[in-house]
Amino acid sequence: MAQKCPDIQFTVVDTDAKRIAAWKSSSLPVYEPGLDKIVESRRGVNLHFSADIDSAIYKADIVLIAVNTPTLAQPNNSISNGLAAALDLTGIEECARRIAQVARHSKIVIEKSTVPCKTGDFISNILDRYGHPGVMFDVLSNPEFLSEGTAIQDLLEPDRVIIGGKRGTEHAQKALASIYAQWVSTDRIVTMDLWSAELAKLASNAILAQRVSSINAISALCEATGANISDVARGCSMDSRIGSQFLRPSIGFGGSCFHKDVASLVWLCESLGLYEVGKYWQQVLRINEYQKTRFVTRMAQVVDGGLLNKRIACLGFAYKGGTRDTRNTPAATICSALLEHGAQLSIYDPKVPGQSIIEHLKEPQNMPAETIAASSIASPFSPVFSAHDTTTSNVHICTSVYEAIANAHVVAVLTAWEEFQNIDWYRVSKLACNPAYVFDGQLVVKDPAALKGLGLHVIAIGSPAQPIPDFSLGPDEIKEKAEAFIGMSQLQSYVDHKVSVIMNDGRLVVGMLRGLDQTTNIIMQECQERIFSEDEGVEIVDLGLYLIRGDNIAVVGLVDEEADAAMDYETIRGAPLQPIRH
Ligand code: UDX
Repeated sequence: MAQKCPDIQFTVVDTDAKRIAAWKSSSLPVYEPGLDKIVESRRGVNLHFSADIDSAIYKADIVLIAVNTPTLAQPNNSISNGLAAALDLTGIEECARRIAQVARHSKIVIEKSTVPCKTGDFISNILDRYGHPGVMFDVLSNPEFLSEGTAIQDLLEPDRVIIGGKRGTEHAQKALASIYAQWVSTDRIVTMDLWSAELAKLASNAILAQRVSSINAISALCEATGANISDVARGCSMDSRIGSQFLRPSIGFGGSCFHKDVASLVWLCESLGLYEVGKYWQQVLRINEYQKTRFVTRMAQVVDGGLLNKRIACLGFAYKGGTRDTRNTPAATICSALLEHGAQLSIYDPKVPGQSIIEHLKEPQNMPAETIAASSIASPFSPVFSAHDTTTSNVHICTSVYEAIANAHVVAVLTAWEEFQNIDWYRVSKLACNPAYVFDGQLVVKDPAALKGLGLHVIAIGSPAQPIPDFSLGPDEIKEKAEAFIGMSQLQSYVDHKVSVIMNDGRLVVGMLRGLDQTTNIIMQECQERIFSEDEGVEIVDLGLYLIRGDNIAVVGLVDEEADAAMDYETIRGAPLQPIRH
């Protein structure tokens, strides 16, 4: 604003003198691309930073209140489990009192912070009650819609500027509109009543969060059916009524706004007795928690032997790419869950300081009880993920992708940093364990099939972990297919476990049957753990088989033609089968 309005003097005040000192230095207290240059160019010209709050209020014609409105702490046994939350308006109240006490001439007071509907009245009441006689205040709502990482762009080219005020504040609304009009086209500056402006902000964030939860809910369906989430999202977004933004599947949304604002909306609905409406918005938060849980659950189910003592490279910790902000970051919830599974984490984020990561992981993650319960069935081989008893000694902070990946069994992409789109996966395949899993929580891997050839098995959000069998085939066709490749008769007696064969060159090869159901998976992992260990020099190959279980009949079929083509079936067919050693 200071850059666009050189004739207006702006003074930023804060109770935290250290923060003000940082604003005056070359190391600003917030990271936002391009902000340092703008601050540098206006500082001391028409942009000032000061800890002298009263003097700034006294001189100002317009006061913007932009303080934190955190979620009010809730008792642990709260029935809403963090899915409905009142906001703490203490900061707003203190500002209003201070303005009232200090002001000696009339002022426009603007609420910039995100607040529940009707907070404007609360501010007006304080100003009227404690203000000096004859001093008039016009209270306006001017919510900000800036996203981190693109805040400057969002401010310079806003989709809209909303100015809300009660009847009688029209002159104040015009004064504020004329400031924005210095760089925003007037058709994008809209005025409305105070409560509508306040609610428009909450509703905008809730609708954006709802879109992310909607596509994430669909991603679960894709994983179960084999539909491709990127194609589904593309198919939806090409409808101009839907549009393409905020349909990117991920491990869930984070940040200081979405969860807080939706929870605040739910609280508002409940406090007005609109319980059905509250439940609707609450579901947006539940799906967000579910998405994080599913990510960890899948990992624990798919990785052979569970996650205990597994080395996991976590790429990214910020709640989104382009920022070092970690507030409400899904990465913290996921890393905590992985630690509770007994994993060893190597975490790399291009911007988040290591100390901040460690501090986050020491904090208990406020997960709803139902999420924790769902997670505890993740894997029979992992410690139960129930309480936060994690020790950060299992966390290693890294300074590059490749340092994090060294000797990793699993690579988990947690933040959509641009840097991760350009990872040298060949280099990764040489540094990580082979084979290794890549759990892509942000769809940064462009060509998962190419990685498979490098020994990296990609499991992305919205893609099935294993090929989905073609259920349209009848048992006879499946049997026929299976026999054509390996001989059904040889397999039948081993169908519940695995196939083990001695190759002509003397190697023992164990063919894992891909199980469709949880029980089969458990049996296989158990076999692998108990019967064969790496020390025995056993090679484990994936024969691309699957099991259909039902009515005590097991049928073996082949699903992955690519894997089949790569297998040396001639040799396997010619080799005698060995019984499994129990
Ligand atoms: C949000 C609003 O966009 C902004 O208007 C408001 O002023 C503040 O809150 P911000 O929290 O900075 O901005 O980030 P945003 O880009 O909206 O992303 C929020 C979260 O949703 C991030 O964790 C992001 O990774 C996630 N997200 C976003 C997705 O998972 N998929 C998407 O398609 C979009």
